[in-house]
Amino acid sequence: MKLVGISGALIGRKTSKVVHEVLQAAKTFDPDLQTELLDLSEFEVEFVKGTPLSYYNDDTNKVVSAILSADFLVIGTPVYQASITGVLKNLFDHLPIDAFKSKVTGMVVTGGTDKHYLVMDYQLKPILSYLKGVIPVGNVFVQNEQFDEDNEIKDADVNSRIQKLAEEMILLQRGIQQLK
Ligand SMILES: Cc1cc2nc3c(=O)[nH]c(=O)nc-3n(C[C@H](O)[C@H](O)[C@H](O)COP(=O)(O)O)c2cc1C
Repeated sequence: MKLVGISGALIGRKTSKVVHEVLQAAKTFDPDLQTELLDLSEFEVEFVKGTPLSYYNDDTNKVVSAILSADFLVIGTPVYQASITGVLKNLFDHLPIDAFKSKVTGMVVTGGTDKHYLVMDYQLKPILSYLKGVIPVGNVFVQNEQFDEDNEIKDADVNSRIQKLAEEMILLQRGIQQLK
């Protein structure tokens, strides 16, 4: 199985760090798992303009193909203005409406404080559901004070949630594969 992580941040490194940690935890739980991190700061994904995908640049096609070829995904975003980032929403707008059908879609959100932790449930989750993703019960929210100055996660509870999310995603996706 292939697990693809998406980091929907262009400015900082916290979101990609947490998504990376989920991928690492998943690999530890299932060493046969293939993983790939799509850090959107490393790609020039074009704005959606209503043309077929073949009219967009290579990066846009590469990112969309990697998502569609994944068995399951973990999707991370920082909170921006009480919502998900524009780049992540733009990427979702490129996807067909059954992009996440039969795929577990885990959620990771970072924020300046915990005031906006419900962005995960009220803004990210409805989009993943609309695209037919199977959303695990567990998720990971990390606020800035839970990172140290080296961008390492210093909070044991966050690390435990990362492990649990990775394990739940794998077990759920294995169940889905058996039903296929
Ligand atoms: C443009 C912008 C808007 C932000 N808006 C919020 C916000 O509404 N609520 C919040 O808790 N944090 C907000 N933040 C803080 C980020 O969510 C937080 O620093 C996050 O950890 C950044 O993740 P990154 O390092 O992956 O970029 C904002 C940051 C930026 C740059």
